[in-house]
Formats: sequence, C-alpha cells, structure tokens
Amino acid sequence: MNIVFLGPPGVGKGTYAAMLSVKLNIPHISSGDILRDEINKGTELGNKVRQYMNKGHLVPDEVIIEILKKRLDKNDCKKGFILDGFPRTVRQAEELKRFVDIDIVINFFAPEDLIIKRLSGRLICPKCKAVYNIYFRPPKNNRKCDICKSKLLQREDDKENVVRKRLEIYERETKPLIDFYRRNGILSDVYADQDIEHVINEIVRKIKGDVHGKNSRINKT
Ligand code: AP5
Repeated sequence: MNIVFLGPPGVGKGTYAAMLSVKLNIPHISSGDILRDEINKGTELGNKVRQYMNKGHLVPDEVIIEILKKRLDKNDCKKGFILDGFPRTVRQAEELKRFVDIDIVINFFAPEDLIIKRLSGRLICPKCKAVYNIYFRPPKNNRKCDICKSKLLQREDDKENVVRKRLEIYERETKPLIDFYRRNGILSDVYADQDIEHVINEIVRKIKGDVHGKNSRINKT
C-alpha cells in the first residue's frame, strides 16, 4: 500500500509514520531524514541543502524529486511505503503521480499553538532517529535516547523564528496539496490533537475504510 502523510511541520507525521511502518511492515521514507543524513555525512548534496533547511526554506523541487525517485525505485518499496514530507509542492505531487500510484493521503491537522509547542519541545536521536518531546513524550533518562543511549539534540530548524518561517511556507506551498488530493479522491483527514495511540488507531481506520481493505496489510481482527 502506497501512503502519503501530509500536514504542517510538527503535527506528528514522523512519529506516526515510524509506528505505522512497523505495523504494516513497509518502509517509512522521510524526505527530511534523507536530507539531514546528507548534511551529517558532509556530502556535496548535504552542503547544498543545509542553507535552505536551516532557514526553514524548501530545498529546490528538482533536487528533492530526484532523491525521492531514486529512493522509491529501491526493492523495499515494491510492497508499499509511507512518504513523510514529500510531496510538498504541487510540482512535486504532479511528478510523484507520474512516477507511482498513491492509494491514500492522510492529511493531519492540529491547532497552531499546539504545533509550536510540539516543535519547541522536540528532541531527536541523531543515531536511531527516535523522536521525543520534553512536554509530551520525555525520554526516560534525561537527554539520552531510550533505545540507543545517544545524546538527544534539538533540530536547527526547531528554533522559534525558523518554525514561523516553516509554517508560513507550509501555508503557501504545501496546503494547496489538500485540494489537489481531495480532487483526486484519495484524501482522508485525521485530527492530530489526540494522544498518539488514538491518532494511530484513527489512521488505521481510515486506511481500512478508504481502501476497502483490498490492499490493506493490517489484520482486521
Ligand atoms: P521535515 O523533516 O520533513 O520536517 P517537517 O515536515 O517540517 O515536519 P517535522 O519533522 O518538523 O514534523 P512532524 O510532522 O514529522 O512531527 P514529529 O512526528 O516530529 O523537513 C525539514 C526540512 O527539510 C524542510 O523544512 C525543508 O527544508 C526540507 N525538505 C524536506 N522535504 C522536502 C520536500 N519534499 N521539498 C522541499 N524541501 C524539503 O512530531 C513533533 C513533536 O510532537 C515530537 O516531539 C513528537 O514526539 C510530538 N508529538 C507528535 N504527535 C504527538 C501526539 N499525538 N501527542 C503528543 N506529542 C506528539
């Protein structure tokens, strides 16, 4: 099953995608994680995209489209995938449509003040990519990852002025995708201001309902 997660920064796309990927046994493909890995490895691509990301701007369409096409071509995507953070512009969505069929787009929404709190409290593990939150999902051991014990970090782009810029860009560039996918008849809304388990159950319900179970890998019991 080919799934797209859509929604503003900080609404929880990465958190839900990581959990659902285990449940459905399909890869979680985060465009942001792919780009951050390139930055951390100090590659030419990483150096090129860093300036955009740290300011909260989108990286150019042609750069991200090429990266995603290569990733979706890999064998592990044959049985399905969850795309988190891509597409983010109408041009990206049109390219994706030419490249692969999407079964369902989950559109997450939540009040802006909650989104800002989620982003300002977020901590990430640079090694295993686990995501925590000092307000809502604190790590057990101070600022260390529960899973691999690495020191947790705040993302460069989670500083308040950059968060505002990211939200502004979401409104302008990414929100039009809601209509794009609604017109395609594959959009399902999920309210993300609920605890994580509730959100996951809601996503599973939408996936079962919207695809009428024909491609669903979820056990229906
Ligand atoms: P990316 O990494 O994709 O960032 P984003 O879309 O802005 O989304 P976030 O990762 O900030 O938030 P999320 O929705 O995944 O929330 P999370 O699960 O972490 O992109 C970063 C940058 O890369 C972009 O700005 C751009 O420069 C570039 N880029 C990436 N893709 C691109 C593209 N396609 N085109 C061009 N440029 C691109 O949750 C947030 C916090 O809330 C966490 O702390 C979590 O623990 C907590 N939380 C989540 N859900 C709940 C809940 N239900 N209850 C309590 N706490 C919760």
